[in-house]
Amino acid sequence: MAKHIGILTAGGDSPGLNAAIRGVGKSAIGEYGMNVIGFRDGFRGLLENRFIRLNGAALSGILTIGGTILGTSRDKPHRMMMGDQEMDMTNVIVENYHNHNLDVLVCLGGGGTQKNAYRLMKEGLNVVTLPKTIDNDVACTDVTFGFDTALGIATEAIDRLHSTAHSHHRIIVVEVMGHNAGWLALGAGIAGGADVVLIPEIPYDVEKVAESILERARGGKAFSIVAISEGAMSNEDAAMMHDMEKQLKKAKKKDKTEEVAQIEATLKVFEEQQTQNTVHLSRQLEKLTRLESRVTILGHLQRGGTPSAADRLLATRLGTACTDLINAGVYGVMVAARGEGAEPVPLDEVAGNRKIVPLDHPWLNTAREIGVNLGD
Ligand code: F6P
Repeated sequence: MAKHIGILTAGGDSPGLNAAIRGVGKSAIGEYGMNVIGFRDGFRGLLENRFIRLNGAALSGILTIGGTILGTSRDKPHRMMMGDQEMDMTNVIVENYHNHNLDVLVCLGGGGTQKNAYRLMKEGLNVVTLPKTIDNDVACTDVTFGFDTALGIATEAIDRLHSTAHSHHRIIVVEVMGHNAGWLALGAGIAGGADVVLIPEIPYDVEKVAESILERARGGKAFSIVAISEGAMSNEDAAMMHDMEKQLKKAKKKDKTEEVAQIEATLKVFEEQQTQNTVHLSRQLEKLTRLESRVTILGHLQRGGTPSAADRLLATRLGTACTDLINAGVYGVMVAARGEGAEPVPLDEVAGNRKIVPLDHPWLNTAREIGVNLGD
């Protein structure tokens, strides 16, 4: 009996998603004679029975297209917004999976999607996931697709900012995506020749950053490029955040519901204020260095457009490896990139873990050795 595959893309979109859908679909149909349908807009499509048949025609011409032909959303099966109410819709999703006679649900996503897929696995569904995100922060895989493309875009942006920063003798603070992990800022910072790189893993001291910029100015370079991850924090903010997280853990352990809600609300406000961080840093640097400073926020530019060749290759080979595993009846795994190959990793090892930049990572040593200031 031919197997039935359901596929969905969830979380923030990422270049390479269509290449992965195509990789799974083409090999499933062509190599194994399986049937493939794609659900629209992440887990919501599975909930609302919105899907398309992924046949040869649907899979044709999508390799080079950015985004996802299926659409995506950040909906979680156990916390779906239904009107203005949040509801656990897991049961309906499980029922729909069975109504479609699916043998497996393939979920393409980042950290959140890995957790949601794992939850569905615990409800008895066969799931296989693929790691995608421009943030490169999915655990247990060498790399995620989308990262290489975003790295190229952020690097080109830093390249371009150099000439204007140089001409005006300015500091340019360029904000790169990455709330929890600094892979993109660090990678693009090194590749683009940023003078300062600030990432969430290393809280920064603004005075040390300013001093490194002044040092460059004294050496005759009155411009500097500061690449900063969205989630990078000053020492003071990092300490405050750490404190709040500790309090939250304690309150949760003691089941103090009101206190938990209160701390969560404070944390949310704090995180929202974080978006102002880059602008604040730029102003502080102006004051401390007396050099003019400007801010460039790269934002969603980093997620848009056609995937790089490396991402197309990675997404395609993970897609075909995914189909091979499904054919062999291997479920409950993420198809991880390992060197030039792929390996199944049990979902319970992936879900809830995040791959941040380790403090002894070679890229950090490289950055330091070429004189990049990391804010510490
Ligand atoms: O895709 C991951 C990510 O790009 C993060 O780096 C970023 O903080 C977030 O998505 C932005 O998400 P949204 O598009 O939902 O605003």
